[in-house]
Amino acid sequence: MSEQTVALVTGANKGIGYEIAAGLGTLGWTIGVGARDEQGREAAVAKLRAAGTDAFGVPLDVIDDTSVAAAAGLIEERTGRLDVLVNNAGITGGMPQTPTTVDPATMRAALETNVIGVIRVTNAMLPLLRRSASPRIVNMSSSVGSLTLQTTPGAETGPIATAYAPSKTLLNAITVQYAKELHDTNILINAACPGFTATDLNGFRGVRTPEQGAAIAIRLATLPDDGPTSGFFDDAGTVPW
Ligand SMILES: NC(=O)c1ccc[n+]([C@@H]2O[C@H](COP(=O)([O-])OP(=O)(O)OC[C@H]3O[C@@H](n4cnc5c(N)ncnc54)[C@H](OP(=O)(O)O)[C@@H]3O)[C@@H](O)[C@H]2O)c1
Repeated sequence: MSEQTVALVTGANKGIGYEIAAGLGTLGWTIGVGARDEQGREAAVAKLRAAGTDAFGVPLDVIDDTSVAAAAGLIEERTGRLDVLVNNAGITGGMPQTPTTVDPATMRAALETNVIGVIRVTNAMLPLLRRSASPRIVNMSSSVGSLTLQTTPGAETGPIATAYAPSKTLLNAITVQYAKELHDTNILINAACPGFTATDLNGFRGVRTPEQGAAIAIRLATLPDDGPTSGFFDDAGTVPW
């Protein structure tokens, strides 16, 4: 069983996920770099190792049951335990997404990755997380999924995104469901919003750097035992549901 704190970050080959892996790596943690693309995964692992992080590649496609089961098996073999799971992998499904024209396939793709993928990975990793003294789960959500902000005049919640935004609303709701079931365990589970960050996801139009976007997930991954659970946070504090 590993003596280091062990984290798995999904979608860690690039963007915010890579920076979450890098930030947690600087804490001396062992980092599983979850990514579906072999070349991107191995490049990320090499870059993290060059920076001194104890990183290892975890082949992982969050929409594939077999891949996710194999990822859990690999971590069990490698470290025997998981302390932190960051469910970061996500897609928009492609834009534009107006409710009157959206393709059902686009809806399914966003929900399959951003919601069902999180459930699939979380449930596969839970047996390993339960072996940790201080397990943490961070679900990378977005303030664009906040119904309160979307119905607040003047609040910035991006373009109409009928697949993407509700997928994050549902992810928030699912996060609360997990917290309810896990309330009598030591597992803390929260949703995070990275802010509008320059990544592939938005054609690099975001105004924050991936490193800045990673900060809130790193904070929630390193919560003390009396830290919050069942919350939705960004760098400024609580995000309304
Ligand atoms: N950027 C923003 O402004 C912003 C704002 C709010 C929330 N977020 C959230 O932050 C998270 C990270 O996004 P990002 O901005 O860093 O975007 P990104 O650069 O496009 O990274 C997305 C990551 O998710 C991975 N991914 C997608 N589908 C996957 C699957 N089926 N299995 C495994 N990995 C998969 C991608 O892998 P591939 O390289 O193989 O595609 C990539 O590593 C997402 O959940 C996103 O919704 C981003």
